[in-house]
Amino acid sequence: MPQPAARMELVRPSAIRELLALAADPGIISFGGGYPDPALFPTADLGEAFRRAIEEQGASALQYAPSEGIDRLRDQVAGLMRADGVACGAENILMVQGAQQAIDLVGKMWLEPGDVVLTETPSFLGGIVGLNPYEPVYRSVRTDEHGIDPAHLEVVLRENPRAKLLYTVPDFHNPTGYTLSLERRARVVELAREHDIVILEDTPYRELFFTAQKLPTLKSFDTDGRVYHVGSFSKTLAPGLRTGWMVADPDTVERLALLKLATDTQNSTLNMSAISLYLEHADYGAHLERNREHYRAKRDHTAAALAAELPEEVGYSVPAGGLFLWLTFPEHVNTDRLLREHLIPRAGVAFVPGSSFYSENPEFNRGRLGFPTLPSDRISEGIHRIARGYADARHLL
Ligand SMILES: Cc1ncc(COP(=O)(O)O)c(C=O)c1O
Repeated sequence: MPQPAARMELVRPSAIRELLALAADPGIISFGGGYPDPALFPTADLGEAFRRAIEEQGASALQYAPSEGIDRLRDQVAGLMRADGVACGAENILMVQGAQQAIDLVGKMWLEPGDVVLTETPSFLGGIVGLNPYEPVYRSVRTDEHGIDPAHLEVVLRENPRAKLLYTVPDFHNPTGYTLSLERRARVVELAREHDIVILEDTPYRELFFTAQKLPTLKSFDTDGRVYHVGSFSKTLAPGLRTGWMVADPDTVERLALLKLATDTQNSTLNMSAISLYLEHADYGAHLERNREHYRAKRDHTAAALAAELPEEVGYSVPAGGLFLWLTFPEHVNTDRLLREHLIPRAGVAFVPGSSFYSENPEFNRGRLGFPTLPSDRISEGIHRIARGYADARHLL
């Protein structure tokens, strides 16, 4: 047998899979998941949209379609982006199979082995996994509750002449829940221009905001087409639709569409047609508002339980949107061990150990708490178990 390509060295299952498999036992309350709550899937409206797509559009909804996506949906998505402050038209939109595919396509378009990718600290694991096959070197940029730190970004850019791409999740980050502040947004795009790198702006949680308004996208500060904005219907409609989009200049959309043609030809015509009909006939705005209320209530419940139960030495972020809270234990605590030896087997509770989310230099005292699918009584009981389990294990750590 010949050897598989060297890039396969970087394609490995993550350690958290194995740990979270331990938490699959129904007796364990798991905050490990990041799936949206299926109770929110708009099944009746989507059912109607799929029925119409097949019965009323028939052949066209079942036929091959352009790699960029069907025109009507590209136009509707461009409308959503304009309402979000991004000047664009249908020609700027590439439909993709979820944000995950956008990560792959951008990596394929831009990265030579050894190019430097800058990430937040910590970063979305799927982003790292998605870019790994292109064999980049990662440099993580200091990040706090206001997002990536531009002063440190500047230092890292100076130190790394091969820096080519910044991968960032500016809204309600996975795993931290942090949001990049307004001033930093402008500065990050300015630095990208000064140091001639491109930005991959990944925003699957953007519509799940709990405050009065969202901050402008990085794309809205882009003057020369270096920001690739990525949106997704996974967390707002349903991830099984595998439908997201990229916003880029028309030339780039065409080039990315050629890569997409080579990869998977196109998104499902039927799914795109049904989503287009859904956007036309259902009330997407009201649906988004229901999602926000639902997750806001869960966030509030989780934060209140943490405030009541956790000792002061354990910190946590209260996100302004999205699905995750970020726990910070005292420096000496290793959450991989805490979970494996104490919380999962003894206390019957799990979350994701933070160390899995770093592109370099992992921190071991952090953890991601996902609240989207748990009912409030399980959230209360789960936080109680974390607090009790940690108290029992503290002298052993
Ligand atoms: C930050 C981030 N990017 C991308 C994705 C993948 O989303 P999609 O289902 O749109 O591919 C996720 C999913 O959890 C995510 O958290």
